[in-house]
Amino acid sequence: MTITITWLGHAGFALTIDGHQFLIDPFLSGSPVAPVSADAIGADFILLTHGHGDHVMDTPAIARRTGATVVANVEIANWMGDKHGLENVIGINTGGGIKLPFGRVELTIAHHSSGLPDGSYGGMPNGILIFTNDGKTLYHAGDTAVFAEMEWIGDAGVDVAMLPIGDHYTMGPAASLKAVSLLRPKVVIPMHYNTFDAIAQDAAAWARRVADETSAKPVVLDPGCTYSL
Ligand code: NI
Ligand code: MN
Repeated sequence: MTITITWLGHAGFALTIDGHQFLIDPFLSGSPVAPVSADAIGADFILLTHGHGDHVMDTPAIARRTGATVVANVEIANWMGDKHGLENVIGINTGGGIKLPFGRVELTIAHHSSGLPDGSYGGMPNGILIFTNDGKTLYHAGDTAVFAEMEWIGDAGVDVAMLPIGDHYTMGPAASLKAVSLLRPKVVIPMHYNTFDAIAQDAAAWARRVADETSAKPVVLDPGCTYSL
């Protein structure tokens, strides 16, 4: 089974696992670094970490066009149904998970906020753990600070971690090194940086520190580029 992980810029990723296509936090129409149009991207599922516009705003249109099922916390899932008329939504919550065709998806804690773009309550922010059918573990941290329980997440044996390094709204490069030490992933991909001036970072310098100071392999992607495992 081949897994492909394509960075869409910001916190957005397009993944394929065993022929199933899904997106995490696609942010395309409002992003200056988007490598693909929200009108052109495909998806069977869209997984969302929290309610902020730079994570949810393109989902109603993509889900309507593709018929993708949206998986998020119950407040965001209900908002996608009630406010945007999406019929294929699954609401879960922190610590819970569901079986999807490509594996089990669980929501983890994250330390952030989650208000929806219209001011609606968006529940608690989350990270996403994916346990693929052939035993790989992927972790998308969402927008978060570093937190001690990342060590417990790491106990699952994380193959690939996607971590924010932008600072300002999330942990920055230095704190993300602490996160890598706690999570102990085989591979770490940085995200949520270089979208806007406020979160500009030197990813090459970050990658050198990951290589020197942790046991993880840093994989820095340009928007639109893919890592396969
Ligand atoms: Ni956010
Ligand atoms: Mn964000």
